[in-house]
Amino acid sequence: MKHIVKPYLFAFFASSIVVAAGAGLFVYSGVYNIGADDHHTKPVFTLIQTLRDQSIHRRAKDISVPNLEDPQLILKGAGQYAAMCTSCHLTPSMKDSEVRSGMYPQPPNLSQIQLDPKDAFWVIKHGIKMSAMPAWGASHDDATIWSMVAFLQKLPKMTPQQYNEMVAKAPPDEDMDMNMSNDSQMPHSHGEHHE
Ligand code: HEC
Repeated sequence: MKHIVKPYLFAFFASSIVVAAGAGLFVYSGVYNIGADDHHTKPVFTLIQTLRDQSIHRRAKDISVPNLEDPQLILKGAGQYAAMCTSCHLTPSMKDSEVRSGMYPQPPNLSQIQLDPKDAFWVIKHGIKMSAMPAWGASHDDATIWSMVAFLQKLPKMTPQQYNEMVAKAPPDEDMDMNMSNDSQMPHSHGEHHE
């Protein structure tokens, strides 16, 4: 038996070394195109997508969901969403944005898809590696993240007008520098600008 096992083991280790060397060569050679405008092949994309979905479900499944029907919570989420998310995830009246069109993976249009609240909470809090989805948990507490989740449950059913009305009524995002948001609407030369 010994004579049979050994050559197999040798072949196994030898081929492992060849594979590792090949992988190293591939990485160092620079042949892989890292450009965002060079898209993955279908099998690679499906593989990454499955890994992403399984990773999120596993981590999100035991999260307990608060009452997402609270109107104040939804309103707060509308303000947060309008301030931080629309350039990538759009609104009911936006077709695309300058930043989104060149992104890969492309951020989903959240005014068109219904999300699972647990998965959405986990993704918003932790972000997604090697995509441009930030971990908002670094700068926002759980209650604020739930407000975004609550709003996102309503967003796909909203008309552009309903969206605009809700955002107009929403409390301002307290993390935003109000001077900055005023400045972007008003010219600098209006003479009342103190800093
Ligand atoms: C700079 C662009 C960018 C910004 C800003 C951004 N996201 Fe994302 N987001 C992404 C990308 C890209 C993905 C998709 C990642 C992927 O598919 O792997 C994503 C995915 C998501 C998902 C998962 C959707 C799904 O189909 O499972 C949710 C939920 C989400 N974002 C919520 C938000 C919220 C809420 C905000 C604002 C607080 C926000 N994002 C801001 C880029 C962004």
